[in-house]
Amino acid sequence: MTRPVPGFLWGAATAPHQVEGNNLNSDWWVREERVPGMERSGDACDSYHRYAEDMRLLADAGLNSYRFGVEWARIEPAPGHFSNAELAHYRRMIDTALDLGLKPVVTLHHFTHPRWFAEEGGWMGDAGIERFETYVKAVAGILDGVEWVCTINEPNMLALMVGMSRAAQAAQPGETKKWMSPTVEGAARPVLPDPDPDVGRRLADGHHAARAVLRKDTDAKVGWTVANQALTPTPGNEDRLREIRYDREDLYLEASRDDDFIGVQSYSSQAVDENGIVPHPRGPDTTLTGNAYRPDAIGIAVRHAWEVTGGVPIVVTENGIATADDDRRVSYTSEALRHLFDAADDGVDVRGYLHWSALDNFEWGHWKPTFGLIAVDRETFERSPKPSLAWLGEVARRGRP
Ligand code: BGC
Repeated sequence: MTRPVPGFLWGAATAPHQVEGNNLNSDWWVREERVPGMERSGDACDSYHRYAEDMRLLADAGLNSYRFGVEWARIEPAPGHFSNAELAHYRRMIDTALDLGLKPVVTLHHFTHPRWFAEEGGWMGDAGIERFETYVKAVAGILDGVEWVCTINEPNMLALMVGMSRAAQAAQPGETKKWMSPTVEGAARPVLPDPDPDVGRRLADGHHAARAVLRKDTDAKVGWTVANQALTPTPGNEDRLREIRYDREDLYLEASRDDDFIGVQSYSSQAVDENGIVPHPRGPDTTLTGNAYRPDAIGIAVRHAWEVTGGVPIVVTENGIATADDDRRVSYTSEALRHLFDAADDGVDVRGYLHWSALDNFEWGHWKPTFGLIAVDRETFERSPKPSLAWLGEVARRGRP
């Protein structure tokens, strides 16, 4: 890419449960209390109170966008009871972003649910879709001036998590295995399980219901964000790849064919052979979430999303690396951007790059995998921007890698 793309989103992303702290009414909080060996979110990064400082750091560095989420468990603490104070809180976040020159990309659902929703049967319960739709109607009222809305984050990972929690409930006493985050791979679980396609189809219905509400009540572009494993076939295993990839990704990409954009999220790439997905090779390059170091993943992912959706515009809503070595983060991201812009040069309509993550945050049961452009002291909450933030800000100011 030789010239900047006008209006390109250059930003960073977070999710409410991972950074806000004290999300007491959520099903993940309940899980953290119950599951042995799981680390707790606790105060997280206290971004619930410190969001303005977070946003200012991103804007001062040169970024022009911030992806953050609103938390259902706070907005609707009990079924049908909406908190105006919490809605006003999130509206202040939107205003703060706009005042700082950051285009807000707002996620309505990022893995967590109100406790009552989970207890009622969650997505697969009779009222699942209707409950989500009612919540989205309430949030639509605060989205004035927001151009980009993601309905559900990684529905494919969410479908996998629903399956994991069903399996945990069905486990016999004494059968408890050591806790492992759904976003981490390693010796104990070399390959992520398949998402349940029935749950996936239900989530697609939820996404379409939310999209209809948002199109009626807001001017935002609407999409959802799909996890993409950038799977590639070993010779002769193209059919096997297609079969495996359908339940993991394509079902979700197909469901976004009428969306305004598709959020692509990718971190690493894996091969598929006659036995299925090949576990990530272990080596000095392995990231803190057990992934292979594969900055080319995002290029594979956006090309695949472009093909399956039939040309829906793309925003990279997450891409990054879990590493304690910030030089490595810069190398990874600079190479990833090269692959991304190669795809753009080949005609893929890419509208933005939102790095995961703005902050070192709660990685779903673990604190060790650090993805942030900004380090956070977990006791004082002091923020320390890493050199990678200044570096990405410079790229953003230039408007091209
Ligand atoms: C999720 C994030 C997560 C990130 C890194 C994605 O699966 O949307 O919440 O922290 O990947 O693992």
